[in-house]
Amino acid sequence: FSSCRPRVFSSSQSAADNMAEEAKKLAAYSAVDNNVQNNHVVGVGSGSTVVYAVDRLAERVRQEKLNIVCVPTSFQARQLILKHGLMLSDLERHPELDVAIDGADEVDSELTLIKGGGGCLTQEKIVAGCSKFFVVIADYRKDSDALGQQWKKGVPIEVIPMAYVPVSMTIAKHFGGEVSLRMAVSKAGPVVTDNSNFILDWKFEHTHNWKEVNTAIKMIPGVVETGLFVNMAQQAYFGMEDGSVKVRK
Ligand code: 5RP
Repeated sequence: FSSCRPRVFSSSQSAADNMAEEAKKLAAYSAVDNNVQNNHVVGVGSGSTVVYAVDRLAERVRQEKLNIVCVPTSFQARQLILKHGLMLSDLERHPELDVAIDGADEVDSELTLIKGGGGCLTQEKIVAGCSKFFVVIADYRKDSDALGQQWKKGVPIEVIPMAYVPVSMTIAKHFGGEVSLRMAVSKAGPVVTDNSNFILDWKFEHTHNWKEVNTAIKMIPGVVETGLFVNMAQQAYFGMEDGSVKVRK
């Protein structure tokens, strides 16, 4: 099954979790308000922060009678768009988007991202690549000077299932660190993406030239896409602990 599902939060959330949720909402609302206009084609990312962005999009469509079209990056995003009655499209009908709004697992000082914590990195990268403007929304825990400081689970890499062992070995041999096959929470089997592939998580040992590493990993037969987003995002909105929003350009 796909890992890109809406997440459900229990009433026993800690205060820290509540603060992070508020921060996600702040970032999402601010990004939607500052970047989405009437007649825009909007890329809708995946994950828990994007849930707030779609809430705000739907609110603005109702209140301001905005005419917007949404292109999803995952099954989850598609469900969110449909649930809110927003206009659903795809890259066949709308291959050029005005703006894409998506979450991230970590954002460094140069707007290099690790994405794919939810396993949707390939479609997210395609949609971001088709967008004139790509905006990241995140809470303060994702804000980083250098990748690996905040997100400890490594770089997600989508692979063709039959190739997961040789791809893992090649990555570990050339770049060091540890590579693991992402398993479903039940441990009954691997996580399967929306594209019917597997996800590897590469825990790197030190900072790399991310542009070069991204290109090199993509050249390994069996690799579909990496969760390294280099030179793609134009802006990141971080909801902060004090209730402010920090924008990185
Ligand atoms: C999914 C992603 C998500 O955008 C990323 O994992 C951030 O998710 P969240 O907003 O739940 O922290 O890349 O593939």
